[in-house]
Amino acid sequence: MTKVIKNGTIVTADLTYKADVLIDGGKIIEIGPDLKGDEVIDATGCYVMPGGIDPHTHLEMPFMGTYSADDFESGTRAALAGGTTMVIDFALPSPGEGLLDALKKWDNKSTRAHCDYSFHMAITWWGEQVFNEMKEVTDRGINTFKHFLAYKGALMVNDDELFASFKRCAELEAIPLVHAENGDVVAEMSAKLLAEGNTGPEAHAYSRPSQVEGEATNRAIMIADMAGVPLYVVHTSCEEAHEAIRRAKMNGKRVWGEPLIQHLTLDESEYFDKDWDHAARRVMSPPFRNKQHQDSLWAGLSSGTLSCVATDHCAFTTDQKRYGVGDFTKIPNGTGGLEDRMPMLWTEGVNKGRITMNEFVAVTSTNIAKILNCYPKKGAVLVGADADLVVWDPEATKTISASSQQSAIDYNVFEGKEVKGLPRYTLSRGTVAWGDGKIQSTEGHGEFVARDAGMPVTKALSTWKELTAPRPVQRSGIPASGV
Ligand code: URP
Ligand code: ZN
Ligand code: ZN
Ligand code: ZN
Repeated sequence: MTKVIKNGTIVTADLTYKADVLIDGGKIIEIGPDLKGDEVIDATGCYVMPGGIDPHTHLEMPFMGTYSADDFESGTRAALAGGTTMVIDFALPSPGEGLLDALKKWDNKSTRAHCDYSFHMAITWWGEQVFNEMKEVTDRGINTFKHFLAYKGALMVNDDELFASFKRCAELEAIPLVHAENGDVVAEMSAKLLAEGNTGPEAHAYSRPSQVEGEATNRAIMIADMAGVPLYVVHTSCEEAHEAIRRAKMNGKRVWGEPLIQHLTLDESEYFDKDWDHAARRVMSPPFRNKQHQDSLWAGLSSGTLSCVATDHCAFTTDQKRYGVGDFTKIPNGTGGLEDRMPMLWTEGVNKGRITMNEFVAVTSTNIAKILNCYPKKGAVLVGADADLVVWDPEATKTISASSQQSAIDYNVFEGKEVKGLPRYTLSRGTVAWGDGKIQSTEGHGEFVARDAGMPVTKALSTWKELTAPRPVQRSGIPASGV
């Protein structure tokens, strides 16, 4: 049975044109005028775009003494309701746990997904087992490894471990990711703040100024360069980090930065709210920043020095946030955003003229599909691509509210925001998963997307590094020893 999306305007990362899209067997089989199919999806007045890809989620993740509240069931429902058709979640071994054991857990959790998904693997400790298992992880279609420079005493790795893991990534032609905040400095600043009576959620922001992010971003970039590997910097939130990424790019380094929709649209004033719950619900790392940092992130998106907009969706209920009453360091770090990323970015980005529609597609879908090596299966409107599509109604409006969201938590950090631009339909491999204002997908429809290592960019970089590697100078004569 074929489906045809009719009367819409296709918007991709580089083209805007009127055409119908014919779908069969979950794939796009034809694009052109006046196509016919067994079932018609009306896109009159709408844009037909690649479904969003969120490269950064934490679904049902064990963290800070609890589990993030959205699992693969509610999390992927939220994704589809907001026009996102694929999520990349982080398989997270606890320190000492094997990578393959962690992967088994993530395989089990993800059986409930409504949309397609893939995994990054986190490197939370270092040893021979991790070194060996990294190869098997890449053989199983995971070509990205995440490193935390924050969360001292828990997930953090030191520079020697970082360098060892980056070199292993280079050998495997995989890409390392980094959470760039200086965990040692954060730990000291946190202890001092607590000792001085700064126990509320605002102290979370005081403990992680932009310098700790700028320093760690620059350090990770330089270590990646010495290891001869590209680097993807997650949740870039400030000018100092963006500056390091910009400089690296201008110097020919293969580095990408990922701002979050939260950092683009919410600022540090949230932490000064008199309501403890309001402030604690917004505690995440890095914290929200001031307007100058936000301007820098928007400039990065329009200039191309920042590449992808993510959510870092890691949702905790108010009750979970209250673990940190009296001690801000115990507030579980993380916020939601999966359902709101695309509408908020369209509203604040496209509607305000900060980015074009094509740039919107690039930063919500196509760029990350290319970086992660799943393009054009994902992130494209092309014959042969998966029919992961969003029929986007630029005139549709809503007020974001926890009362109508898919996420399992009891609040929304974007509560009350008016958005204009919403999915009319979201299709996951040709199946209408969101339409007529409700979820129509089935639990378990989502499939794992394997992503091979050995991307063109890693090959290019290893070729260049090999050509320019240190070599002994061949000399004609060696002087006699001076002894
Ligand atoms: O606060 C955050 N970002 N929580 C999720 C874990 C991480 O650091 O990405
Ligand atoms: Zn992080
Ligand atoms: Zn409030
Ligand atoms: Zn994260």
